[in-house]
Amino acid sequence: MCGIIGYAGKNNAADVVYKGLKRLEYRGYDSAGAAFMLGGKITVIKKEGKVETLAQYLNNVSADIGIGHTRWATHGKPSDINAHPHSAGAITVVHNGIIENYSELKERLISDGADFLSDTDSEVAAHLINEFYKGDLTAAVAQAVKMLKGSYALMAIRAGESKIVAARYKSPLIVGYGNGENFCASDEPALAGICEKVCVLEDGDIAEITADGVNIYNGNLQLVIRSVLPNLAVSESLGLGDCPHYMLKELREVPQSVQFTHKAFYGVEEKLKSALSGVNRVIFTGCGTAYHAALIGKRYVESFARIPAEAETAGEFRYKNPVFGAGAAVFAISQSGETADTVEAARLAKAGGAKVVAVTNCLRSELTRIADVVVPVAAGVEICVAATKSYTGQVAALYLCALTLAGEDIGGWRGKLLLKMPELCKKAVESIDAGALAQLCASARGVYFLGRDIDYAVAVEGSLKLKEVSYIAGEGYPAGELKHGTLALIDGKTVSIFIITDGGLAGKTENAVEQVVSRGGKAAVITNVDGVEERLKDKADYFIKLPECDKYLSPLVSAVAVQLIAYRTAVMLGRDPDKPRNLAKSVTVE
Ligand code: M6R
Repeated sequence: MCGIIGYAGKNNAADVVYKGLKRLEYRGYDSAGAAFMLGGKITVIKKEGKVETLAQYLNNVSADIGIGHTRWATHGKPSDINAHPHSAGAITVVHNGIIENYSELKERLISDGADFLSDTDSEVAAHLINEFYKGDLTAAVAQAVKMLKGSYALMAIRAGESKIVAARYKSPLIVGYGNGENFCASDEPALAGICEKVCVLEDGDIAEITADGVNIYNGNLQLVIRSVLPNLAVSESLGLGDCPHYMLKELREVPQSVQFTHKAFYGVEEKLKSALSGVNRVIFTGCGTAYHAALIGKRYVESFARIPAEAETAGEFRYKNPVFGAGAAVFAISQSGETADTVEAARLAKAGGAKVVAVTNCLRSELTRIADVVVPVAAGVEICVAATKSYTGQVAALYLCALTLAGEDIGGWRGKLLLKMPELCKKAVESIDAGALAQLCASARGVYFLGRDIDYAVAVEGSLKLKEVSYIAGEGYPAGELKHGTLALIDGKTVSIFIITDGGLAGKTENAVEQVVSRGGKAAVITNVDGVEERLKDKADYFIKLPECDKYLSPLVSAVAVQLIAYRTAVMLGRDPDKPRNLAKSVTVE
């Protein structure tokens, strides 16, 4: 949800900010802009469109201070005017977050004579800082942010002052330390390869960044110390390699994601065991794909530990006044660890006395500060907006968590089954040819993904992925529910994709295939169950064969199949799977 970067130092700020914005683009890409200062004078360049639109305007810009922004619109449509930075007087600001009380602030500022140019909530921050400026930019920012309700990670500069002042509350912001140069950015990957040491700002922190140093204050402008840590983002892992898209590259990294997540679990097993002792109820929560992993986590806990478990989207969970009771544990699942609803759900659970377990790919995210235990997903940086390898990493982590809850040794037989999965995932990524099915999907009016139990959980993930990257309507549905309504939508222009990985339920799902085919619908079957293809060979139009594996671990390979179908369909339709329209990777606003 918007990415911001700031630079003060010996190199050309225009180059550093532009490269940083390219790295941050997955956080939003409807418009981009930057402000540069040289000799005390500020130049602002901002345009609707992707970051690369800025390149042509930066050729002759050289600066020693710069702040930049790549936007995912919340207030005001994507346009040049609504792109950041926003200025008021000598102040220029970039902002990520939502200022919930912006209307009343704007009204008051206008009645005091302020002239607003954009429809954004962010512009009020520039006007407030300008209003409070009495010769000290840091003090003006500190005073201005006290007026803001909502969330912000912002940076302000003022013509004539060689510093950036940054502030954060509920939106991520890090400071990067260099030699004769310092940085500020939404996340570590933005600084990969250019800055090795970072610190994570805390809510309420205000940082002054110059070429020579960094001062961090609390909201009362008292100096505070924050730990300096190595930058975990490694630049080599951020390139596309020989892949045309990050989505494909990251799908190919599914085997490592499962393998590294498994390995990383050993480091947290004991802590998790003791945190979960006495737990008698488990709630899994997350958004989007992370919620789909939650659906699988629930099934693992109920099957292995026989403890009641629920899965709920974080956006619903946090507003339904949930009951926790003694012995509840909440697993908050999030690739980014920044998703506003998931973070707030975790906060609520903690306040309600539940044990909170964060399952996340970002070990310095907000979610990790709230949790009692952090279970790492070691997927590596995921750039494509559509989640792939983080999902399989989450599923592997949840499998191990459920074994731990069940009191099983993760080195036992079930743990050993997981050890075989990276190889099987590799086989799936390399062998599945989704091209022909993608062609069918690309011309379909609707695509339905169906399955039972654990296959249903993967069906909803398949449907989300296809919608997200190809813009084809559809639904993920329990196969048994088809005849209770959705069957009315089935005709020759629809494709139904059935996932069958549980031999015990195969016959039931095969019935649903028959129901679709006899209504003229096209059907495809993804399976690793013996006999299914033979029985359905005259009914289904396509088969995708999965490597054989334990039914509980089948999501690790069936997810690869549905994600590949989505990828191939998107590419066939000329969509950019890495940057689907209207979306951004980290949803840090409600
Ligand atoms: O960072 P998170 O895992 O919390 O993100 C949650 C969702 O926004 C995310 O999974 C989204 O649904 C993906 N773009 C789906 O591919």
